[in-house]
Amino acid sequence: MSTNPFKPTAGHLPPLLVGREPIIADFEEGLADGPGAPGRLMCVTGARGVGKTVILTEFGNIAKSHHWEVLDETASSGLAERLVERLQPTKRQLATTIKPEITGPQGIGASLGQISISSQQMPLTLREALTHRLNKIEKRSKDRGLLVTVDETQAADRNDLVAIATAVQHLIRENRNIAFVFAGLPTITSKWLNDELLTFLRRAQPERLADVPLPEVETAFSNTFAQSGITLAGNPLTEATEATQGYPFMIQLVGYNIWRVANRHAAENPVVTEEDASKGIEDARRRLGNTVHGPELDGLSQVDRTYLLAMAKDDGPSFTAEIAKRLKQSQTYANIYRTRLLDGDFIKNAGWGRVDFAIPYLRQYLREHDAYYMQQE
Ligand SMILES: Nc1ncnc2c1ncn2[C@@H]1O[C@H](COP(=O)(O)OP(=O)(O)OP(=O)(O)O)[C@@H](O)[C@H]1O
Ligand SMILES: [Mg+2]
Repeated sequence: MSTNPFKPTAGHLPPLLVGREPIIADFEEGLADGPGAPGRLMCVTGARGVGKTVILTEFGNIAKSHHWEVLDETASSGLAERLVERLQPTKRQLATTIKPEITGPQGIGASLGQISISSQQMPLTLREALTHRLNKIEKRSKDRGLLVTVDETQAADRNDLVAIATAVQHLIRENRNIAFVFAGLPTITSKWLNDELLTFLRRAQPERLADVPLPEVETAFSNTFAQSGITLAGNPLTEATEATQGYPFMIQLVGYNIWRVANRHAAENPVVTEEDASKGIEDARRRLGNTVHGPELDGLSQVDRTYLLAMAKDDGPSFTAEIAKRLKQSQTYANIYRTRLLDGDFIKNAGWGRVDFAIPYLRQYLREHDAYYMQQE
């Protein structure tokens, strides 16, 4: 039995990374161009499931192939402290050797906890830790360096980002071989928009991950199926391609589910039928609802959800004035929610005072779950 060539798992580096050559080229150029190159300080934004974590993994692999060291972190409370700890493993060893009598993981945790660094000290501590590590790396070869990636940046504490920003700015000025890539939801730019200390984040090269062009999806599908001896062509291929709407997570889901259906009869007939395609797409859509739409909607405020439900009544783009009317609100009031939903990449501007859904199949999902969400009001 052959293995499914698609991997619809969050953050999992897919066997085929479709449509990401330009951003990868920017990053590689940054590595090649030396200290201070724009590609060495990047801010990758995009909607849920568009492939941010995957691109960080890919950057890490590229950096490692150039013999760079890579530190991957996810923003949550204590980010800067964790970075310091990971940069100076000697400190951890020190803590364990100083208190040998306290055994077991709890004892070690407690002694480590004592090396807590105040937010005033943190920028300097982090800078020193990074410098120390870079000294070691660069001693081995001048071409080597350190890549630090921070995922889910929208969830970072301000103090942590301030510490990172200060340290990185100094290291860049000192021409060190360092690269920093931040990734997060598009809301990161609005979250600290008026924060002077974080102008730094906006100085980073902005890379907005968007959906993959359909012709590239089509080629990737056709080739990947062919590689496992199954033919996906004609109408089933067109249907599969269009069903993804170019959304990376959906590319994996559609590919995975159609392959699964077709593989069952592949021994007798290794050709994807229209029936296989429809069944696979239906399975993919259901899974998208459970893993993306549901959790995303649960994270929204009630009013934001009501706005989306009002939009779902239309078959295409909605007039914002009409939505305000449906919500029985003034346009100004409704606009507050519209802006928030735009920032979060739930909806997009569709011109002429209209907005449309930015996440594939969200409209259908809302219609199917309308009763459930109305009940919550
Ligand atoms: N360029 C791509 N081509 C094909 N599949 C991709 C691509 N990018 C990501 N994927 C797939 O899409 C899914 C989601 O990717 P990933 O977890 O990186 O998204 P994300 O932007 O980090 O989402 P979240 O905001 O929820 O963390 C994964 O299954 C991944 O394999
Ligand atoms: Mg992610």
